[in-house]
Amino acid sequence: EEFNVAILGATGAVGTRLISQLEQSTIPVKSVKFLASARSAGKVLKFKGEDVTIEEAKPESFDGVDLVLASAGGSVSKKFLPEAVKRGAVCVDNTSAFRMDPQVPLIVPEVNAKELVNHKGIIANPNCSTIQMVVALEPIRQQFGLKQVIVSTYQAVSGAGQSALNELMEESEQYIKGEEINPQILPTKGDNKHYQMAFNLLPQIDVFEDDGYTHEEWKMIHETKKIMLNDMDAKDIKVTATCVRVPVRIGHGETVYFEVEDKSATAKQIQDALSNAAGVVLQDDPSQQLYPQSINSEGSRDTFVGRVRPDLENEGNFNMWVVSDNLLKGAAWNTVQIAEELVKNNLVRVPENAYEA
Ligand code: A2P
Repeated sequence: EEFNVAILGATGAVGTRLISQLEQSTIPVKSVKFLASARSAGKVLKFKGEDVTIEEAKPESFDGVDLVLASAGGSVSKKFLPEAVKRGAVCVDNTSAFRMDPQVPLIVPEVNAKELVNHKGIIANPNCSTIQMVVALEPIRQQFGLKQVIVSTYQAVSGAGQSALNELMEESEQYIKGEEINPQILPTKGDNKHYQMAFNLLPQIDVFEDDGYTHEEWKMIHETKKIMLNDMDAKDIKVTATCVRVPVRIGHGETVYFEVEDKSATAKQIQDALSNAAGVVLQDDPSQQLYPQSINSEGSRDTFVGRVRPDLENEGNFNMWVVSDNLLKGAAWNTVQIAEELVKNNLVRVPENAYEA
């Protein structure tokens, strides 16, 4: 069987990677359609060497499409994906639009691929920071049990889209030349104030909630619970997060402090669990100054882990450093990997009890 695939948001930072990840995937592609806004209609992008003309996304664009890979923003997904499902297309969505919807599985294949059988036409791809953290934590949870997670992130600017990446480059040049800097996008396009990102740190990703956490931090807490425990409010694992944007182009870093149930667990055992885990590469050798770095993660589908060490004053607690390409495992690769799982398990079909908005 071959599939007609549409990429919604094909021109974006994630969209262009969806194209290349699909080119490199095991998915048998009959045809591709590249969809974006009216601004891009008529432009041409390549798929496996062939020209594909970008079309403006409309509900009818999804007629005859079997599989949609979407990364054009939450409101665009909200508008189009239910229309695509009505037309018989299965959608894997990289935005936050449907992640917490009880009708929608939230999938990281290394952790909960088994939930895919229950899909109703829409499957959500988690937040980039959540994905790389759960890929590293799941093998530890499997072997030692997990009680608590305290994470701080160092998130690359490409997570905020191509325009944010352009802004960082422009500001960096302006700063070095001593020119005036006029931020328009970061920390968060949708918020009122914008601050310099070049040579700076911004402890705000997405908008603030009433409780003082940012929405990005909220996502890391509740998505982790939904992925690992199938319950966004589960109390069995406690999670807290601080999310910080750093002037890095690609590759999120995270310090993850965690407590396991098995108090006899050692750092060596945790390193062994990680080095055997799917999707994880252990890079951990202080004697060789070996540890994961953002710039080395670029272009890789893996999640890199290093600096695994015990909290010397609290038994059963550990620190580690986790890095991954936020546009690949954090977005485009995880999305295409979900689509590969759907194909492998004969799940590229909308069931009778399809998703209803
Ligand atoms: P366009 O390039 O035509 O604006 P990024 O995450 O890098 O900011 O990319 C966002 C993606 O979403 C782009 O491909 C963008 O297309 C697309 N997009 C934005 N608004 C719409 C819309 N209303 N309909 C379809 N695609 C959209």
